[in-house]
Amino acid sequence: MQQDYKALFDIARNACAQSYSPYSKFRVGAALLCEDGSVVTGTNVENRSYGLTICAERSAIVSAIAMGKRRFKALVIATPDAHYPVSPCGACRQVISEFMPATAPVIFGNSETSFVSSTVGELLPHDALHELNHNN
Ligand code: THU
Repeated sequence: MQQDYKALFDIARNACAQSYSPYSKFRVGAALLCEDGSVVTGTNVENRSYGLTICAERSAIVSAIAMGKRRFKALVIATPDAHYPVSPCGACRQVISEFMPATAPVIFGNSETSFVSSTVGELLPHDALHELNHNN
């Protein structure tokens, strides 16, 4: 993993300490690199009504938006309870794509040595929002 992303991966993994996941016992942490250089974290927040669960990726994006940040450069996701890199769910891909350019890196892994380097556009190709925004 590239040095910059390794630092973000550590932040994402540390965010797992805040995970509220009593049902799945599967912790997820996210580190969102904002255009101003700050990093906003997120973690998964489950609910006994399972469908209301909020994933780590969406929790990071929603927190960042609430803090007044609108542009993001990279997203790193840590799934330390898995034996393989777990990719963002479809709902998260849609939300990620709303706020990040198609070329932005999305790195997900269960460890620093077991990860996938992808992009927003690879995870959600042909997003009409990006096709309309030529500067993306
Ligand atoms: N989860 C995430 O937070 N992000 C992902 O990319 C995959 C899944 C959460 C949702 C749920 O709390 C738990 O992981 C098990 O699916």
